[in-house]
Amino acid sequence: MQTPSSQHVQVPPPWSDKVSEVLLSKQEISRRNIELGKEIGDKYHGCNPILIGVLKGSIIFLADLTRAIDIEHELQFIRASSYHGTESSGKVKIQGLENVDLKGRHVLLVEDIVDTGLTLKHIVDHLESMGPASLKICSFLSKNTKRRLPGTPNVDFIAHYIPDKFVVGYGLDVDQRLRHLPFLGIYKNTK
Ligand code: XMP
Ligand code: MG
Repeated sequence: MQTPSSQHVQVPPPWSDKVSEVLLSKQEISRRNIELGKEIGDKYHGCNPILIGVLKGSIIFLADLTRAIDIEHELQFIRASSYHGTESSGKVKIQGLENVDLKGRHVLLVEDIVDTGLTLKHIVDHLESMGPASLKICSFLSKNTKRRLPGTPNVDFIAHYIPDKFVVGYGLDVDQRLRHLPFLGIYKNTK
């Protein structure tokens, strides 16, 4: 299990008014991605899996993960919207698989973060209905939260466990901002 250990890393000055703490440094993220890529490569050897990234949050993670997997695999992207700002709206809409055939394929869903599990549950139900040979889940982050819903699918590959804080960077946004930060930080809510 990976837990954050970057408390000693200073928030870079340009972001100190937006980020209170660096949870995962660029180096830690990179190290763990390589480990996870190897694990996934070993697991799916000879399977030509399809990795399905959930836009937009997973793009940076998936861009790094795909290059750490040394077996042949395909990439697809879907869009699932559930959040507005820092609060869940309770609704999930899935787009992007209209022209994709997953029947008999080995699918690995790649998420940025599992929080309540609502988004994941909706996506998994949708993917299951498309008849894949197997469906596993990989998430960059798993939030330790009491709000996790019963019936949330099991996540097979988790890069990091984080505390119940709103985080930004490495693909994760607040109202579309701060995705580009190369580290993961705790958002300083100044509103
Ligand atoms: P649920 O609650 O459905 O949430 O598991 C999953 C989606 O919610 C967003 N989310 C966050 N985004 N920082 C973010 O930037 C966070 O701390 C956070 N928590 C949840 C995210 O889009 C994720 O896919
Ligand atoms: Mg978001």
